[in-house]
Amino acid sequence: MSFLVVDSLTMTYGPLRALNDVSLTVKEGEFISLLGPSGSGKTTLLMSLAGFNKPTSGRILLDGQDIIAREPEDRDFGFVFQGYALFPHLSVSGNIAFPLKVRKWDAVRIRARVEEMLALVGLKSLADRKPRQLSGGQQQRVALARALSFGPRVLLLDEPLSALDRMLREQMQTELRRLHRETGVTFLYVTHDQQEALTMSDRIAVFEKGKIVEEGSPTRLFKSPTTRFVAEFLGENNFVKGSRANGVWQGFGTSFSLPEQRDSGEDAGSATLWLRPGDIGFGTGRDGDISFTAKVEDFVFGGTHNRLALRLRSGETFVASISADLVAEDALGKDLTFHARPEAVGVLR
Ligand SMILES: Nc1ncnc2c1ncn2[C@@H]1O[C@H](COP(=O)(O)OP(=O)(O)OP(=O)(O)O)[C@@H](O)[C@H]1O
Ligand SMILES: [Mg+2]
Repeated sequence: MSFLVVDSLTMTYGPLRALNDVSLTVKEGEFISLLGPSGSGKTTLLMSLAGFNKPTSGRILLDGQDIIAREPEDRDFGFVFQGYALFPHLSVSGNIAFPLKVRKWDAVRIRARVEEMLALVGLKSLADRKPRQLSGGQQQRVALARALSFGPRVLLLDEPLSALDRMLREQMQTELRRLHRETGVTFLYVTHDQQEALTMSDRIAVFEKGKIVEEGSPTRLFKSPTTRFVAEFLGENNFVKGSRANGVWQGFGTSFSLPEQRDSGEDAGSATLWLRPGDIGFGTGRDGDISFTAKVEDFVFGGTHNRLALRLRSGETFVASISADLVAEDALGKDLTFHARPEAVGVLR
């Protein structure tokens, strides 16, 4: 039996379908990111899971039982929502103890559990402080400890790190992964930061306009997206026109063949090819590489890698990220040769 199943969930606000027939199966202990642009329905799904909104139709099953009619406190789900602040009048310990008091744990058990949670998030020395005496990162740790204190089976996180600066966010990402490992709790993590989703999750579900357009492991979605939306949304990408006749592809102003795992196996009058900026090299490359000529129309210094805006003879433009040792600003305006491994080229129909 599956652990958590979202089955054809739809949530409408008047004419708007904030969730449009969303289905997702979650394994116990998984770390799943819900990734998508603003307004795509991520928070709506999390709220439905937490029990704070009532979907128009569909089911949510936990261990095979439909929990849609259950109150939030009867669902065994912890949550950390962006706007869900700490209780300002309670200390760090008081905040962590709060869900335990609601659940009527006895005082001895609460004290032991709070100690355990303080150790888990490294806040033992700050147990008596009030939230306003803590930094943003420390407050976020308290929120995590509070959400985990009663031992939920699922932790719902809605962009918990978006208010933090980059350094702190990266630190907290590591912290979250450790918490996930150490507690074994299933994490459902909402983010619109694709890098965060790629580095943190076992699996990513990509949302667009109330639907999950694609789901899979970070590697699968990054390396072999099947939709243009995901190919574009996860990592930077370039798209050019291509066609295939008698097994040979045309594109980038040249002809080439693609390896079996990349090739559709069928000829096509028109298809879209994608190639990531980081997979483009300078020069003709090695035997078997696709090499092509392009004019350098813009040059942006970027430290270890420079970014080049290129134009093919066909007029199509794309971006390459090239090691700074290889190309300098004097490339601007020149027709130069670039290459890519055939494995790096993807096909969309
Ligand atoms: N209470 C509500 N009444 C009407 N429309 C709503 C309500 N809550 C959400 N919506 C709409 O539902 C859609 C999905 O919203 P949701 O908050 O789930 O998006 P999101 O993916 O979390 O976006 P963001 O990344 O900006 O947080 C949006 O178009 C939003 O305007
Ligand atoms: Mg949201």
